[in-house]
Amino acid sequence: MISMWDVAMFILALVVVRISHWLYRWSNPKCNGKLPPGSMGFPIIGETVDFFRPSAFNEISPFIKKRMIRYGPLFRTSIFGSKTVVSTDPDVNFNIFREESTSFEAGYPDIFVKVFGKDNLFLQGVNVHKYLKKLTMQLIGPETLKQTMIGYIDKAIHDHFRLKASQGSFDVRKGVEDLVVAYMTPKLISDLKPETQSKLIDNLHGFTFDWFQSFFSLSTRKALVKVLKSRGEVIKLMKDALRKRKESREKPGDFLNTMLEEMEKEGSIFDQGSAVNLIFILSVATREGISIFTALTVKFISKNPKVLAELKREHKAILENRKDKEAGLSWEEYRHNMTFTNMVINESLRMLNSTPFLFRKAVHDIEIKGKIYNSGGLDCGGCTFSGSL
Ligand SMILES: *[C@@H]1O[C@H](CO)[C@@H](O)[C@H](O)[C@H]1NC(C)=O
Repeated sequence: MISMWDVAMFILALVVVRISHWLYRWSNPKCNGKLPPGSMGFPIIGETVDFFRPSAFNEISPFIKKRMIRYGPLFRTSIFGSKTVVSTDPDVNFNIFREESTSFEAGYPDIFVKVFGKDNLFLQGVNVHKYLKKLTMQLIGPETLKQTMIGYIDKAIHDHFRLKASQGSFDVRKGVEDLVVAYMTPKLISDLKPETQSKLIDNLHGFTFDWFQSFFSLSTRKALVKVLKSRGEVIKLMKDALRKRKESREKPGDFLNTMLEEMEKEGSIFDQGSAVNLIFILSVATREGISIFTALTVKFISKNPKVLAELKREHKAILENRKDKEAGLSWEEYRHNMTFTNMVINESLRMLNSTPFLFRKAVHDIEIKGKIYNSGGLDCGGCTFSGSL
């Protein structure tokens, strides 16, 4: 006779087999070829916790480093609930970029969509990227740098930083953030009332990425709520500005005007939501990018006295050569007399690793270097690391 005990054991065995099967499937996803080595971590959350271990901007994240040593330049993992292949292999990354818009498309995890907004066109395809690049070049491209930005920034640094530098020490990153937001905000929307403008600037400062460094700490949830609230305020203020501008039919030469014109074009990819989101992303991206970059460059220079001496020599020669000693930095000086300065800038850009991750999704099965990237939910986190191990 079969006892209750046997039945229980049988059911238990079935459950164990099911679970093991599920765990096996979880760590070895179906694939019509060979997957790169790696671990899928815990079911559901995968290796997301490890992914968020903090690291400095100028180093390879410990998450990547550990796995590069263990598995090589190409490994599989699961982050943000997506099965992902991480590539730190320059050849593979090159191939992915070459196949962009045919075999791969931009595909960002949900968390990014939440923070940046679903209207964010940057999270979309490559052709959209190219179009956005052209559009934003009007705002922050070389021509603008030449015409207006160089003079403004030169003067602002004089006024702002000379005072600060005389006070002993100051936070370069914060200083540059203030400077960039003060410069960019009126370029984006030029006709805000002063109190609306300062409200906008306050909320832009409230939108930070500090939560990102410690994703699973206790304070994170609170921080994220605050960040999303700031974002909401900014979007609201910008939407109001867009609506008012539409009604007034005035055409000041700011980026809001550019966006209105784009929106009114036949077959425009912009609606109100995505237009405002682009303005928002630009204000945040310029602030973050430039401030982090400047702070790190100052740090690099402070560690290399020879570089500092050479920079000083180059800059002194320019000053001595100037007819008008009171004149600010000119475009010609920047282009023709700052060879070493430009080298320092380029090297710092290389060291900074400003875009540690780019996410791409395989549209169909594709083989690169003997490994399959399939469209069955296996994403590809292509990393563009400038440093090497
Ligand atoms: C700056 O560059 C111009 C053009 O190449 C050159 O004529 C001039 O001597 C340079 N000045 C300095 C200080 O190097």
